[in-house]
Amino acid sequence: MNRLLLTTLTLFMGGVQAAPIAMEDQSQLKVAPASTPASFKPPAESELPDNAFGKMVRDGYALFVDTKRLAPEYVGNGLNCSNCHLDQGRLAHSAPLWGAYPMYPAYRKKNDKVNTFAERIQGCFQFSMNGKPPAADSPEMTALSVYAYWLASKAPIGVETPGRGYPEVDKPAQGYDIKRGAQVYQQQCAICHGDSGQGQKVAKDYVMPPLWGKDSYNWGAGMHRINTAASFIKHNMPLGKPGTLTDQQAWDVAAFINAHERPQDPRLVEGSVEKTRLKFHANDGVNLYGQKVDGVLIGQGTGG
Ligand code: HEC
Ligand code: HEC
Repeated sequence: MNRLLLTTLTLFMGGVQAAPIAMEDQSQLKVAPASTPASFKPPAESELPDNAFGKMVRDGYALFVDTKRLAPEYVGNGLNCSNCHLDQGRLAHSAPLWGAYPMYPAYRKKNDKVNTFAERIQGCFQFSMNGKPPAADSPEMTALSVYAYWLASKAPIGVETPGRGYPEVDKPAQGYDIKRGAQVYQQQCAICHGDSGQGQKVAKDYVMPPLWGKDSYNWGAGMHRINTAASFIKHNMPLGKPGTLTDQQAWDVAAFINAHERPQDPRLVEGSVEKTRLKFHANDGVNLYGQKVDGVLIGQGTGG
């Protein structure tokens, strides 16, 4: 499109520029099942060189585990990257950075384009962190990419390393049940994440991350899908006891969490939950956005 036409179009649209959408979606990865042994070992911190590269790796590490405090201008909720990518982005089956880095750039059918690694990270800023993604050439993005590159040292490029992503947990034959999920939540999760999913703070900082409400991931995040949350939960929660929930419990509690309000999907179409559901949620795994639960419309957002 030539520049004149673009200008005309912008004028035509009232000259109002919507916030840039870095990535259309966080569509689900297809990854190896959890039964495939994950033997890849990322380098230890002691192996870091004492030079400018090593310093950049440390900066990226710090941003990854302390995102909210170190990069508040890009984070709109109470989360850090490492809340969902456990053990500083090192843990197998917790979408480790060493599993991700060698797999980009990648064509993604859903937004019909080749996505760079930076664009993938921008997606997590926009949706999982409910924030404003840093530019691809910003110091923050450079540091995060260098950290991921270093963790992936010696991993093959373009070949999926077992341990990547959150391996899928098949939908149980009985489907899921939000009320059963509430019981699992009270018994196994509330002690850390709070009775109303609010997490726990020490002073201004969360020590236990919130699972819903205004400081949680938004309705566009991958974690809002019940199937993705079930996969994360089964392999990573309760913290310290991964793999102890049945598939049924993981699905039930994932549905319970994702039946609660959270910040609106930033891709909201013309202020309409229904239009947004049709465009972005109707074919995005299993989710409750735009549906009614006990007569209440889900997906209205937390406002403000
Ligand atoms: C609320 C949870 C959450 C938070 C917080 C989060 N992510 Fe993610 N991240 C996800 C999910 C879900 C996926 C998609 C995984 C899938 O589809 O299996 C993902 C995918 C990724 C991927 C691609 C993984 C791969 O193997 O292709 C990268 C890289 C990534 N996130 C980096 C980050 C960074 C950097 C941050 C902090 C700025 C961050 N994430 C914060 C949940 C989160
Ligand atoms: C012992 C405390 C503890 C228990 C019990 C626990 N969690 Fe967590 N959970 C955490 C911590 C801490 C993190 C962040 C991990 C990190 O930063 O290393 C987390 C992260 C999460 C996340 C991703 C981050 C976010 O805020 O969205 C989800 C989802 C989650 N837990 C769900 C659950 C569910 C469901 C249960 C119950 C089956 C559960 N947790 C039990 C401590 C706990």
